[in-house]
Amino acid sequence: MNHIISASILNSDFGNLEREIKNAEKAGVNWIHLDIMDGHFVPNISFGPQIVSLCKNISHLPLDVHLMISDPDQFIHDFSEAGADYISVHIENNPNIHRTLQSISAYGKHAGIVLNPGTPVESVFSVLHMVDYVLVMSVNPGFGGQEFLPETLIKIKRLSNELNERNLQIPIEVDGGLNQDTAIDARISGASIFVAGSYIFKNPNGIKEAVRLLKNT
Ligand code: DX5
Ligand code: ZN
Repeated sequence: MNHIISASILNSDFGNLEREIKNAEKAGVNWIHLDIMDGHFVPNISFGPQIVSLCKNISHLPLDVHLMISDPDQFIHDFSEAGADYISVHIENNPNIHRTLQSISAYGKHAGIVLNPGTPVESVFSVLHMVDYVLVMSVNPGFGGQEFLPETLIKIKRLSNELNERNLQIPIEVDGGLNQDTAIDARISGASIFVAGSYIFKNPNGIKEAVRLLKNT
């Protein structure tokens, strides 16, 4: 019951961003999830530190910044300064992941490691001692509104077992295609932080009802 809902603004109405964030906040989301895409690491471009800083001014909620960019080392300073509280970076194509994670921690931010659906879960095992959370992607990153990939549940479970065996109290975040049903599956597998974008901001029943259902999963 005490899981965290992180609202991804990627598919929100950017023309009314302040209203969207305030509504999500009033509905009871715990964090705001900010998807940073560079058109290189993923086939889409989103926004940069300026929008993060804007969100910092709008909301008192923790900002959960998910970097889907080819050269995260170059931008950790900017996103830290912009007000990120949590910064996660992908394990894929990063030859110096220890350095990247150390840099996030050195800025006093919570450091997260992310893995894509096609990446074996074991690939993050060597950095688990350095992170504050692990983000398991349940869609291929780049776009909101995609369908949850159920084969990612086994990875969440394996990761959860590994963390238990090592006695590491690190939460597992899951991102992509979450709704009131898939969030239950993810929770049962061991996740406790749920990123939801279109389910919250494009829900025909409204933000309040969407968040209520997610919180009850
Ligand atoms: C995908 C992003 C997600 C996305 C989630 O690349 O990392 O955070 O915004 O959106 P939904 O909840 O619509 O799948
Ligand atoms: Zn994300």
